[in-house]
Amino acid sequence: MADGTWTYWDARHSDLDELASGGQIGLDRPGNEIFYAQRFGSLLSLIGDLSSPAAPLFVLDAGCGKGYFARALARCGHRVDAFDISPHAVDHARAEGGGPRYAVAALDEWRSPWPYDIVVCVDVLFHVLDDQAWAAGLRNMASLIRVTGRLIATDIVTDEDADEGTDEATAERTTRGARTVHRPIAAYRAELEPLGLRHTLSQPYGFRESQVGFHVFTRTR
Ligand SMILES: C[S@@+](CC[C@H](N)C(=O)[O-])C[C@H]1O[C@@H](n2cnc3c(N)ncnc32)[C@H](O)[C@@H]1O
Repeated sequence: MADGTWTYWDARHSDLDELASGGQIGLDRPGNEIFYAQRFGSLLSLIGDLSSPAAPLFVLDAGCGKGYFARALARCGHRVDAFDISPHAVDHARAEGGGPRYAVAALDEWRSPWPYDIVVCVDVLFHVLDDQAWAAGLRNMASLIRVTGRLIATDIVTDEDADEGTDEATAERTTRGARTVHRPIAAYRAELEPLGLRHTLSQPYGFRESQVGFHVFTRTR
């Protein structure tokens, strides 16, 4: 990628441990353990607790990093595909095993022979700096979800986003440092609603001072 995304993430995954490389660089190990565990609990409550090896949900972890969420979802009985743009992260995830099927791919590249019940994309989209690449990745993920299935993606969540049913465009596109661009919920809705995905919920992480959280979109047609 021309903006250095691939180089940055592959080097970061090579240099940092399995939680800091995809979590928060500024946190120590126990802090990242809490950050990951707390978000996984939220993810489970958003996905629901109906799964077993006999009747798995088909889940895609898009931008899986070293596979924390992919492995945790597989342990809960889900059948998980996972990909990331960083070969180093995918090698690490594969070596950990645990059930998910991994690949190296970008958000706008991944193809699947079957539609997913759930696509999760945790802390990836706001690291896609180019607006066209962001929109192409979002549209590709939307195309992979079955009717009534859900996309659970993360970005900045404002009080208004969390207040269901609002139509207000309340935030601007915000750049933070060299590798982060937060986009408002209105930008997500503008891409996803024409494709049949309705914004059903936003939930802040509620982790320390983080302003990020989950946006849930449900495919209605
Ligand atoms: C903050 S990490 C989050 C990783 C993982 N979701 C987690 O929470 O542990 C961001 C990840 O997005 C990946 N990434 C960035 N741009 C991507 C793209 N266009 N397509 C796929 N993955 C991408 C990076 O390689 C990195 O692993």
